[in-house]
Amino acid sequence: MEKEAIIRKTEHFVKEKLADDASGHDWWHIERVRRLGCYLAKQEGADLFIVEMAALLHDIADEKIAGSEESGMQAVQQWLWQLPLSRAESEHIVSAISTVSYKGGHGHPPQTVEAMVVQDADRLDAIGAIGIARAFMYAGNRGHLLYDPTLPVRETMTKEQYRHERSTAIHHFYEKLLKLKDLLNTESAKKLAEHRHQFLEQFLQQFYREWDEAME
Ligand code: ADP
Ligand code: NI
Repeated sequence: MEKEAIIRKTEHFVKEKLADDASGHDWWHIERVRRLGCYLAKQEGADLFIVEMAALLHDIADEKIAGSEESGMQAVQQWLWQLPLSRAESEHIVSAISTVSYKGGHGHPPQTVEAMVVQDADRLDAIGAIGIARAFMYAGNRGHLLYDPTLPVRETMTKEQYRHERSTAIHHFYEKLLKLKDLLNTESAKKLAEHRHQFLEQFLQQFYREWDEAME
């Protein structure tokens, strides 16, 4: 089977699995990560096939979709096993996917340029206007508040407090979104992150301006 056919088959599989997802992992997120990933791969000289496959499958392994991280990685492996891939290719794709997720920075760091590129593409889609929109969708889907000024930002909390507090959409900016630009692996992703990060800052400024206007 040609590489192209493998990609097309995988695309169908993922589309079907994620079609109705409302937790920020819908098909179009995958498509953006895939395209951004391919762009970054070209810039960074990464293997396009590995990047495209890992980008397509990266959220199949997400515990929010698969139930647990283990069953997610199993689903990915099962899919890869029945494709005509070499063992090295499958292993490369699996290891790239397993390093993609954020996990508060506690995941294994990416070992290959392909893993770096896919992780960067996924992170780029979590910042900028699209990242903001995804955060509010996620918060809405989880029943979180828009913002609650009486909740502390989590950095200032003890672990015990952290466990009992509910996040808000705005708090997620401090927990994750504003940190992402400094966690990128590749220079080409850092370039794309600049204006996206600025937009996060602008958005927060305007948000607090309006909040203060209302509260005066
Ligand atoms: P991904 O690996 O695709 O970035 P995540 O599952 O970490 O996926 O998050 C999906 C989307 O939802 C991202 O845009 C992320 O910023 C957002 N998100 C995750 N957790 C929260 C949260 N507690 N509040 C608001 N948005 C969130
Ligand atoms: Ni993702």
